[in-house]
Amino acid sequence: MDRILIDTDPGVDDALAILLAMKSPELRVEAITTVSGNVHVEQATQNLLTILGLLELSAYPIIAKGEAHPLVKPLVKAEHVHGEDGLGNISKLRNFDGSLRYPLAHCEISTLSGFDLILEMVDRYPDELVVVALGPLTNISKAIRKDAKRMQRLQSIVLMGGVFREYGNVTTTAEFNVFVDPHAAHDVFNSGIPVHIAPLDVTHQVVLTGERLNAEIEGRSDKISCFLKESTQACMEFYREHIGFYGLHIHDALPIGMLTHPDFFESVDAYVQVETEGNLTSGMTVADLRRERQRPIPNASVCVKVDSDAFLNHFFQRVLS
Ligand code: BDR
Ligand code: CA
Repeated sequence: MDRILIDTDPGVDDALAILLAMKSPELRVEAITTVSGNVHVEQATQNLLTILGLLELSAYPIIAKGEAHPLVKPLVKAEHVHGEDGLGNISKLRNFDGSLRYPLAHCEISTLSGFDLILEMVDRYPDELVVVALGPLTNISKAIRKDAKRMQRLQSIVLMGGVFREYGNVTTTAEFNVFVDPHAAHDVFNSGIPVHIAPLDVTHQVVLTGERLNAEIEGRSDKISCFLKESTQACMEFYREHIGFYGLHIHDALPIGMLTHPDFFESVDAYVQVETEGNLTSGMTVADLRRERQRPIPNASVCVKVDSDAFLNHFFQRVLS
């Protein structure tokens, strides 16, 4: 069983990833740190409590609020995709008696900063802990900048970020998580820690249509089914208007699947670099993924293919279990 720390900026697809992780018996979610990305870190932390409130847990992972701003660039958010509150505006929903439709979990938030909690968890589980990064890499970079030696005791970092052979989703060349904090991504790729990447090229292979979601939750009235339906609606509308289909990509769920079901995925080792300066290319990830061109020494393994049917079936089976 892998002990994991999830670093996240929830975000609709982050929520789906957290639910999948919490329902994966192969994983132990020891801690969760939040970071500004899709929404500001204050809202991201509230959202995390909403997500954990969906699960009837007797014990919670340790939670810490992370960085509010990227290392160098001003923060760019994605509320236009994920809804004003980052979870499809479900925080506005009320029951008949006025109470919250999706109440927050009553769990404590650590007084440690996100990066200090990461370092503390490495100490607790040396050579064992896997960091699963689902947002901009600011917290992880700060942990590396504070104590690079200690961070070498991570087992690995599995992250959703970057794009190699397709267009980006923020600019023509950049994917959101890397675009928001390219300097942090640079630190992570050059850290010497084993890095596994789920870029847009592979997350785009998994298409969750509104039709499929409705079919999966039809006739169900449990909290998670209602959450799946209500939290994804704004995002699906955005996709209908701007991407060309009614549905969404569940980007952040893929790194969770890569850990529990590596047989669904194909990866290649590569030397990955990130553009931190370019006017047109800020946040662009660059790597030659041709197997015969593996020079210089690889610093990451980049996922290039997923069995999307197997993964989506698995996702629903777990999340709705
Ligand atoms: C990534 O950007 C965010 O909007 C999603 O949550 C995901 O982590 C996809 O580019
Ligand atoms: Ca995310």
